[in-house]
Amino acid sequence: MIELMTADDHPLIVKNIVWHDEAATAAFAQALASQPAIGRTLIELQGDLGAGKTTLVRHLLVSLGVQGRIKSPTYAVVEPYTLDSSAAHPELNIWHFDFYRFNDPREWEEAGFRDIFASPGLKLVEWPEKAGPHLPPPDLLIHIELQADESRAVTLSAYTATGAELLT
Ligand SMILES: Nc1ncnc2c1ncn2[C@@H]1O[C@H](COP(=O)(O)OP(=O)(O)OP(=O)(O)O)[C@@H](O)[C@H]1O
Ligand SMILES: [Mg+2]
Repeated sequence: MIELMTADDHPLIVKNIVWHDEAATAAFAQALASQPAIGRTLIELQGDLGAGKTTLVRHLLVSLGVQGRIKSPTYAVVEPYTLDSSAAHPELNIWHFDFYRFNDPREWEEAGFRDIFASPGLKLVEWPEKAGPHLPPPDLLIHIELQADESRAVTLSAYTATGAELLT
């Protein structure tokens, strides 16, 4: 389903899809990774504990060519990555945030988060609702909901032209 909207506060595009298993999440990640616009995007991931946010991020990072261990940034709040020069998006800077335990607004300035969100690159944000008022609006919001049969109901909302490009 694709819905076109116009008002400023509303998404430009809303798309509902289902991931029946983790392979479907991986296929979605692969498709996102192949989009040129992925390298200049802020993606927010919403959904309950265990919905599958980190799983999507891991598949996306692997699809983009991140080598080695992918840590969950729950305690560190952010894990940075830089793709190497031979990747499809050479030397792309990527930041994976998890704001679940974030509760110190001073950290926003001190840890340089403001600078990161002002930089080009790919920012992936779990628990954006816990970042307080600091986060800029996302290009793409991905909401994941675990269903009784273990499938994931996913709502994709594009708020910018870049986000809309990712959904085409
Ligand atoms: N599409 C999927 N199909 C089946 N299982 C999945 C899928 N996505 C994730 N899972 C499983 O769900 C579990 C939790 O996933 P994950 O850690 O990604 O959740 P999360 O949303 O990041 O949770 P948290 O809010 O705690 O960070 C994992 O064991 C993972 O293997
Ligand atoms: Mg997670």
